[in-house]
Amino acid sequence: MIIAISPGKVILLGEHGVVYGKPCISVAISLKVAVNVEEYFEYTVNGQPLDEKKHTYIKKAIETIWDGNPLALTTFSQIPSAGGLGSSAAITTASVAALLALKDAFNKEEVARKSFEVEYEVQNGASPNDTSACSYGGGILTWAKEMPGALWDITRNGRTWHIYAVDVPDMTIVIGNTGIKSKTPLLLKKIRKCVDHSSFGAELLEEMEQIVVEGKRALQQRDFVRLGELMNENQRILHTLGASSKEIDRLLTVALKAGAYGAKLTGAGGGGSMIALTDEPERIAEAIRKKRGRAYVVTVDKEGVKILK
Ligand code: MEV
Repeated sequence: MIIAISPGKVILLGEHGVVYGKPCISVAISLKVAVNVEEYFEYTVNGQPLDEKKHTYIKKAIETIWDGNPLALTTFSQIPSAGGLGSSAAITTASVAALLALKDAFNKEEVARKSFEVEYEVQNGASPNDTSACSYGGGILTWAKEMPGALWDITRNGRTWHIYAVDVPDMTIVIGNTGIKSKTPLLLKKIRKCVDHSSFGAELLEEMEQIVVEGKRALQQRDFVRLGELMNENQRILHTLGASSKEIDRLLTVALKAGAYGAKLTGAGGGGSMIALTDEPERIAEAIRKKRGRAYVVTVDKEGVKILK
């Protein structure tokens, strides 16, 4: 029996742009998924037969990696599904990690590569950001720009993304989940229309690039005031691109009113979650709960995906 654990993730700056090779900074978070895998006489997930519709990511992970006997998988998740917090990426990386471990082939880079293949196929498009963030842990920068010191590079359809480790301080992030499902493939399509068919969309992505580059500097300098301002600027762009929603906007307003340094949607948007940067997490969480948002106070997970034996 193998148990793999993967953290979820939040994107601090740069979602959607990263699909087009723009920079994106993410951190793995203390909300996690565990997947337990053991040989069995048929394929099952949580005691039910493996179902193509219900267990899409797991099925694709098995197809991509496993050629042995049938398996029983059991999953446990602390991450709200379709909440913009990497629940699919974490289920994928934990499943991939467990399957690789069964073949004695577990390492984080391989988990990131194979998990991206799975996510890309299932979602019909993606960047390797989310699966690399869950695999590596801590903070990462995903960017088409090549610089020294990449952890790994991933190429798909003629685009190469380089994944870099980013040193992030111990910080507490408040997540406000709207309870509305974020449908990543739909959002990806919507943003693609805007980017491909208007020079305006492409200009917004250029602007976002500058924000992320400056955000990396602010993170390195532990300048939360500036980082918060940059998150707000990033949110304005995401809103203009059509990735926000009135439920997200409502939670952002209360978080900022309650004193957050900055706040923005995280992940694909259109529902899902927002994040707020603060050193008064309980105060912001309470304000979110009063607006009927589900609040989570999380810290940065430094370990990434791992195998328990
Ligand atoms: C979703 O968490 C992040 C997006 O940028 C999509 C991706 O990078 O695959 C919206």
